[in-house]
Amino acid sequence: MAGNITFTMIKPDATTAGNTGKILDKIIEAGFTIKAMKWTKLSKEEAGRFYAVHSERPFFGELVEYMTSGPIVAAILEKDNAVEDFRTLIGATDPQKAAEGTIRRMFAQSIAANAVHGSDSDENALIEGAFYFSSREHA
Ligand code: CMP
Repeated sequence: MAGNITFTMIKPDATTAGNTGKILDKIIEAGFTIKAMKWTKLSKEEAGRFYAVHSERPFFGELVEYMTSGPIVAAILEKDNAVEDFRTLIGATDPQKAAEGTIRRMFAQSIAANAVHGSDSDENALIEGAFYFSSREHA
């Protein structure tokens, strides 16, 4: 059965462009409830740990550099079928392939600077949420 929790980050391209509020509006309008939220900045060590699964990929260095280039907003979101519905809302990783009306189509600049992160499984949603928040921080 699909879980009801996912995890997102609004990435540095979107926060520095002033798009945080517009993206949060889209998320709330789509029926997600914010259970925890934090405006913060990742260190290189933290970004490397968060994206450890990609450490062998050719774009890993660029990814860590980019994710530490400005503030991010981390949030735990709740909705039925949260992981799948959120990935539909944000669209494909590459904004040029993202469907019309999706957050990445509207706000992302490139495959690396792609505005938002969304967990790819229920298991990763819990792991990624726990990276930023303790259980007593969930509303
Ligand atoms: P996200 O889904 O948050 O998690 C992995 C990230 O790696 C992805 O978003 C992109 O930002 C980034 N990424 C994936 N593929 C590439 C690529 N080919 N070049 C640069 N960055 C990438």
